[in-house]
Amino acid sequence: MNKLDAIKKTIEPELKQFNVFLEDSLKSPMPLLNKILKYVLKQKGKQVRPLFVLLSAKCHGTINENTYRAAAFIELLHTATLIHDDVVDNSDKRRGMFSLNALWKNKISVLIGDYLLSKGMLLALQNKDYQMLDCISETVKAMSEGEIYQMEKARRMDITEEDYYDIIERKTASLIASCCTVGALSVGADENMVEKMKRFGTLAGIAFQIKDDIFDYQLDNKTGKPAGNDIQEHKMTLPLIHLLKICTNGERRSIIRKIKYHSDDLNVRLDIINMVRQNHCLDYAEDKMTSFVDEALSQLSDIKDSEALASLKKLVNYCIDREK
Ligand code: IPE
Ligand code: IPE
Ligand code: MG
Ligand code: MG
Ligand code: MG
Repeated sequence: MNKLDAIKKTIEPELKQFNVFLEDSLKSPMPLLNKILKYVLKQKGKQVRPLFVLLSAKCHGTINENTYRAAAFIELLHTATLIHDDVVDNSDKRRGMFSLNALWKNKISVLIGDYLLSKGMLLALQNKDYQMLDCISETVKAMSEGEIYQMEKARRMDITEEDYYDIIERKTASLIASCCTVGALSVGADENMVEKMKRFGTLAGIAFQIKDDIFDYQLDNKTGKPAGNDIQEHKMTLPLIHLLKICTNGERRSIIRKIKYHSDDLNVRLDIINMVRQNHCLDYAEDKMTSFVDEALSQLSDIKDSEALASLKKLVNYCIDREK
């Protein structure tokens, strides 16, 4: 059994129940819509975020309907952002299959993303989960800010390591922070603990995105997403930011020129990937990622020992050990 399945096994009945909530939200009487929703459901993804919700809840109390709704809302939002992300990133592969934009073009993808987000919001609204709506709406805002900031930095190609952490905290970590917050809230954890869980999720989420960015430099990665796409889109992530920091001024100018004018050329991208690897920039990113995980784990020190807590710790480690 792989590491993720082993974690899922410890919370199997709850995960099943969550999937019922999710699948119920992804049905429509409209034929084209239903066909696309079925396609979306075919490849489920790792479901890391619902696991963060369920385990953060179980650590502090008894999982209930509010927890399931929170987990379903978050996975709907996550799926919506992936569909929009592939439009923004011009990416034709997702979860080992064609992305929605590759099959149905951008117009449909934008609308399906909006549809999924609205289904999630309705799930919360119909049950008057206002605290959850408040938390997740803040996250939707942060994610959009992160994406826009990333785009601005990709245009100017002047990103620093600090800017990078700021971007990934907004675009990725804010959602994982929300998972841990709403999970704890759904079982009535106290305010202090909810704050700690939010910080925990933020740190775990930053590590999660660093790992994702490292995958982009691994040509044989198993993510079901194209490698080298970040460079092609002028997205400078931690490994490349570090390379630009340690190289000479001349090399820096040459690398930036290559990305700016020739990133559509596969050989140019391979050249940059090789430089990043040969200069140990993936090791640098891995070290940073590990220290974020260590700091994340230290937030959990006051929680009473349980199987759920042990699984939550394993989940954080999985975020940086994973192969996809
Ligand atoms: C991809 O998230 C988007 C990022 C924030 C890097 P996942 O790697 O969790 O995607 P799925 O849901 O498992 O496909
Ligand atoms: C993920 O960033 C951020 C999102 C909120 C979707 P990426 O653009 O790196 O995600 P992938 O690699 O396409 O999944
Ligand atoms: Mg992308
Ligand atoms: Mg993106
Ligand atoms: Mg990526």
